[in-house]
Formats: sequence, C-alpha cells, structure tokens
Amino acid sequence: MRTLLRVSLSSVGVALLFVPAAFTQTALAASSGATPSQRGDVTAPCGLDRVWLGTAIQGDRFEIKGGRMALHRSNDSTVRRLARRLVADHTKSLAESIALANQPGINAPRHPNPTMRWELEEISEEHGNAFDHDYAELEVTDHHVDISEAKDEVELGCNNRVQQDAKSEIPTLKEHLKLAKEAAAANPDR
Ligand SMILES: [Fe+2]
Repeated sequence: MRTLLRVSLSSVGVALLFVPAAFTQTALAASSGATPSQRGDVTAPCGLDRVWLGTAIQGDRFEIKGGRMALHRSNDSTVRRLARRLVADHTKSLAESIALANQPGINAPRHPNPTMRWELEEISEEHGNAFDHDYAELEVTDHHVDISEAKDEVELGCNNRVQQDAKSEIPTLKEHLKLAKEAAAANPDR
C-alpha cells in the first residue's frame, strides 16, 4: 500500500523563508513579548498571515473534494461520519476564510495546492478497504499538520482577524483529528 505524506507548506521554518526581514523581526519579537495584535492593535497582514490563510483556503477545498469522494465510494460508517463532518465544517470555514481574504494583499486560491491534488488523485484510484484505510490515514496526517499550522499562525501571525480565524479553527480541527483516528482504527491496513 502507498504511504501518503502531506507536505507542510507553512511550517514556521519554511514560512519564514518567504516573508520579509521586517516580519521575521516581528515574529521573533512575538516569542518574547506581546505582539501588536495581542495588545489589540490592528496590524496589516504579514507574510505568515498570507501564507497561512492561503494554505487554509487550499486545505478547505482539498477537504471538501476528498470528503465528497469518500461519501461517493465508501460504505464504512466511520469513514462516512468523518467525510460528512469534513465537508460541512470545511464548507463553512472556506466561506469565512474567503471573506477574510477579501482585503488588500491577500489572495484566495481557487484550487487545492499541487500536493493536495496529487493526494486526491492517489486515493481516487482506490476502492474498498484500501480507500477507507488510506483516506482515514491521510486525514489523520493532514489534521496533525493543520493543527500545527494554525497554532503557528496564532502565535506568530500579525493580523488580529487572521489570527482569530486560526484560533477559532483549532477546536474543530482537533475534532476532525479524533474522527479521522476513529476511522483509521476501524479500517486497519489489510
Ligand atoms: Fe479539518
């Protein structure tokens, strides 16, 4: 069976490569004291805000496509429960994130990123237990990454609204991880 690995695009180390020096200083300052946003100031979106929000929107689109695929082809109750929840929650999250992206300097990606599209193509070739197992494992891995990225944005982002969006996502993402683990446990590799 294939092992599907999700590449984290906005782990802090990578994200800092894409942001200007001014932001790096802000991010470093954030680890030692209150950031402007923590003090209640409204600050312009910085590199990490843009990377996180863009990746979150791509992730929402990925989860909706993957969930619809799972509902189309799986008969397993744990997989279907996970997929229904992912489609519903990420549809809501997508609308909120697109509204948030409607401000200067932020783009709302229209498709999942290439890695996500490859992952969808891989599982689209599978059926039965192989699909159920790999879809559930993919969602376990994916939500570990999602939670880590949201925490990075809460801690190191600049714009209050984007940080608040990330913070509000974390409990939902943890619930998704729990459901994905239950689906993975119910569908071991055969
Ligand atoms: Fe999720």
